[in-house]
Amino acid sequence: MEKKSAMGEAGLVKLWFEIVAVMIIIMVGIGGITRLSRAGLSIVEWKPITGIIPPISEKDWEREFEKYKKIAQYRVLHNWMSIDDFKKIYLIEYIHRLWGRIVGLSLIIPAIIFAVKKKISGFMIKYVLLLSFLFFLQGVIGWLMVKTGVEGERVFVSPLALAGHHTFALIVYSFVILGIYIARAKEKEVARDFELQNLEDLSRKISKLKKLSLISIFLFFVQFFFGTLLAGTKGAVFAPTYPDINGKLIPPNLFEGFILENPFFVNFVHRHFSFVLLIPFIFLAIERKVLPLIIWIFQFVLGIITLLKSKGEVPVLLGATHQVTAWLLYTSIITILFESVLSYRVISNFVGKKRE
Ligand code: HEM
Repeated sequence: MEKKSAMGEAGLVKLWFEIVAVMIIIMVGIGGITRLSRAGLSIVEWKPITGIIPPISEKDWEREFEKYKKIAQYRVLHNWMSIDDFKKIYLIEYIHRLWGRIVGLSLIIPAIIFAVKKKISGFMIKYVLLLSFLFFLQGVIGWLMVKTGVEGERVFVSPLALAGHHTFALIVYSFVILGIYIARAKEKEVARDFELQNLEDLSRKISKLKKLSLISIFLFFVQFFFGTLLAGTKGAVFAPTYPDINGKLIPPNLFEGFILENPFFVNFVHRHFSFVLLIPFIFLAIERKVLPLIIWIFQFVLGIITLLKSKGEVPVLLGATHQVTAWLLYTSIITILFESVLSYRVISNFVGKKRE
């Protein structure tokens, strides 16, 4: 009886977290579109609860527009906008924030229902509380990032703040995926294959996968971080050329100023670091884990096309797709890591039981 209820919980949590994970990926796409349409600063306040009500009357709209007119982005870049132009960018940012709230609620509401109906264990309730806290923190970081663009003279948010916001989102997402694997560990899904295999070979292979995926994740974070800096500094627009950077292999202003906000430096690192990231993917492919390599190839080509098309501004759809593909690539490696850690645990249990 007890085993049955544990399996029920595992299936439920798995499906629930998988839906949340997909919703986060959609959020990343909306986030990319928001940033690339220059809509992200149109709502200059953060009201987590009352902000859900959009402006309704013409008077409300005018009030919102007046607030936007005070910030540097409007004065320098968008002073040509009419109230109808403003409504368009406001709506994009509104959908971005609304979706963020829906994702947060998709965690909290089922948690309350499942807890009341005693469908999930005390451990899972605590895990969801942790996730909800991380979600909230992500909202706070998002707001701190927006603040760097609505206060002072910047016309866009600080590239480092954007990098922090996007990278923290990846960490929150990792915890959601980890939740799926914790649920799977309870189901002991992988156990059924083991009896057919040589355990020593299997455990060597799994250990290799674990190391390769850990190296991949580390290198991915570096590449991801520089990608977000490239996005934040609009580095593509400064040098929309490949393989050279405006005619030079090494641009003369590579080390000018604060390098993490130098568009040439981050462009240089991001394009070349792709090849460093490629190395563990080749080894993973040798171990028959080919998905990261396939996504890498797609991402690499997409990155070059996005760069070459970024004359004047980054095309919204290309930039947002490149952003989402980065997340899919990450998913393909983090699942290899969790899969191997989980398999390790199950093997150890299995070997332990055989010896008893
Ligand atoms: C293959 C591994 C790659 C990964 C994982 C990757 C990942 C990323 C990420 C996460 C971003 C930031 C998106 C954001 O924060 O909005 C980004 C931006 C960017 N990447 Fe890549 N990238 C890769 C390869 C490349 C390559 C080879 C190029 C071109 C040579 C490239 C060009 C760009 C450009 C132009 C941007 C800025 C786009 C924008 O402003 O929206 N990427 N990349």
